[in-house]
Amino acid sequence: MDLKQLISSQPIIGLSPLDGITDEAFRLTQCHFAKPDIIFTEFVSAEGLAHNAVKLYDHLLFLPEERPVIGQLFGKDPDSFYLAATILCHLGFDGIDINMGCPARTVTQHGSGAALIEKPELASEIIKAVQQAVKNKTKLKDLKLKQKTIDKVETFRGTSLQNNNPTISVKTRLGINESVIETWIPFLLKHNLDFLTLHGRTLKQGYSGVADWSEIQTAANIAKTFNTPILGNGDIKSRQQGIEYCHKYGVNGVLIGRAAMGNPWVFSDHIATYAEKFAAMKFHTQKFIDLFSGRRFEPLRRHFLLYTLGHPRAKELRLKICQLTSIDQLLAIEANFLNC
Ligand SMILES: Cc1cc2nc3c(=O)[nH]c(=O)nc-3n(C[C@H](O)[C@H](O)[C@H](O)COP(=O)(O)O)c2cc1C
Repeated sequence: MDLKQLISSQPIIGLSPLDGITDEAFRLTQCHFAKPDIIFTEFVSAEGLAHNAVKLYDHLLFLPEERPVIGQLFGKDPDSFYLAATILCHLGFDGIDINMGCPARTVTQHGSGAALIEKPELASEIIKAVQQAVKNKTKLKDLKLKQKTIDKVETFRGTSLQNNNPTISVKTRLGINESVIETWIPFLLKHNLDFLTLHGRTLKQGYSGVADWSEIQTAANIAKTFNTPILGNGDIKSRQQGIEYCHKYGVNGVLIGRAAMGNPWVFSDHIATYAEKFAAMKFHTQKFIDLFSGRRFEPLRRHFLLYTLGHPRAKELRLKICQLTSIDQLLAIEANFLNC
């Protein structure tokens, strides 16, 4: 079943994109312990890909067991989106998602992410550029890309099956300072998207307060009139809650972000033992080392700290975790972690 059919046929409980978190090591760990129905990469700069920043391909790594995988792009330049979307087609992604929801100042001050809500004409040009890229499937050699980029894409293609018809979707928020869904959502849906994801907060809210699911429900009613599937997002803590919300608020699915950090079982609702949690930490670390041999160990600590939530000896463990610099040091705290 392709991604488009999947999204319209069952309640989807998917992994939300989390920049700096949902890298390939995280996603493989997630899939090993409880596979989400769909998976997004972290966002990647369309302009960066178009300007041959080959380092960015680390964010786009994926393996067949993660499918369906959607690559997410952010940016503000339609021509760059055309190039970047063409690259994502060649990399074999099941879907291409356009970020119109990121509230980070580093992104919005350049007019990308949630700032596009205020620039509907530009948002429209970007969607059309991605649609044109998927339609044209321009050969790599016919794009103005450097040889190092073409080589990089060719190497990737060796490891992933091609998908010739990726979905095109947008992930957005309610508005900038207040909800504008009554105009913004119909505007987006006029573009014949394959699906839309709505996070129930405004840009101004960032991640504070609570997601407004009544607004998501209103958007879901609008989406029905366009016959476009919609995913709701914000504050979902379990698969069970996600399924309940699909029925209660009329969405085709939900994306779970923060609740998956330190708890890959959020997609199965299994209550993990400490032994299972430690096994996940080891698995995640091994994948991280195998994939990113040159990287510092420190980013893993953020994940490990979350695995200690609710642990009776959390305080003592956190002190140790904050000093970890190698997998051997992690293995040395196994007995402390399991002894509770
Ligand atoms: C650390 C962090 C990084 C994020 N990175 C992205 C991103 O790359 N792309 C995106 O569309 N949303 C991003 N988001 C937003 C999440 O995908 C999601 O919309 C938000 O966290 C609300 O869902 P949740 O309550 O399930 O976490 C990020 C959120 C956080 C906390």
